[in-house]
Amino acid sequence: MSADPLRSLIDGRPNDAVSVLDRGLQYGDGLFETIAVFAGQPCLWQSHIARLSQGCARLGFAAPDADALRDDAAQLTQGCERAVLKVLVTRGQGGRGYRPPASAQPRRIVTLHDWPEYPEAFGEHGVRVRWCDTPLSANSRLAGLKHCNRLDQVLARSEWDDPAVAEGLMCDESGQVIEGTMTNLFVFSNGALQTPALDRCGVAGIARDQVLAAARQLALPVSMAPLDRQAVLNADAVFLTNALIGVWPVAELAGRTYDPTHWPRDLFARVVERCRQP
Ligand SMILES: Cc1ncc(COP(=O)(O)O)c(C=O)c1O
Repeated sequence: MSADPLRSLIDGRPNDAVSVLDRGLQYGDGLFETIAVFAGQPCLWQSHIARLSQGCARLGFAAPDADALRDDAAQLTQGCERAVLKVLVTRGQGGRGYRPPASAQPRRIVTLHDWPEYPEAFGEHGVRVRWCDTPLSANSRLAGLKHCNRLDQVLARSEWDDPAVAEGLMCDESGQVIEGTMTNLFVFSNGALQTPALDRCGVAGIARDQVLAAARQLALPVSMAPLDRQAVLNADAVFLTNALIGVWPVAELAGRTYDPTHWPRDLFARVVERCRQP
């Protein structure tokens, strides 16, 4: 079934089909942003657009015009209370081989989606989480980017279908815990936060940045250091973030339950509030 064309713009025009020669389709040669829409406003718009532009620079193609993206977003979100806006940019069309043709014109694809039906209780009472067996691929040139190669996550997310398990945690090949399939990971112990460095793999999340900023406001120490499975299991509290959910505390991981009285709820409240800002 084709998407409602009014909910999908390609280069600013209602459209839901790209060329078979688009490099996003052929090679995953592109980047995307998944943006929460609240009260008709895309949240943390500038942060998303800044990450997208930095990603384009790292991949070596021109970032889309920020005003054009703003217009696309306004057109799709008009009168919309709560939704998900996805902005996807590909290097454009052309070249049967990998070599990017100089003539390729970057393409912008903006789509509007229903808000996911996550139970409200996830943010309040926490979620059940599992370990994934699929390792994350490491590549320092791609680390941090929200690029269109997501097969690690697709395989990891196919590892379970129990709806009671909200997220799976992924490690790199050396067994260091990096992030969830769709979230960044923090542990909290003895009043200090720790989150994995994302210099070899992982997505540098927009919500992760909000945690770092909120921790600075609350004068909570934060370290970015390798984290093994045992350190996650031993932590006082563990939580997950992304731009849609804000924060999910982990209530249970592989049989280990975390005591909610140890959760840094003042930090959570600040992060959720920050994630709802335009
Ligand atoms: C693999 C992965 N890591 C982390 C995140 C969190 O990123 P953000 O905070 O920008 O939503 C996402 C979001 O979809 C993700 O897919």
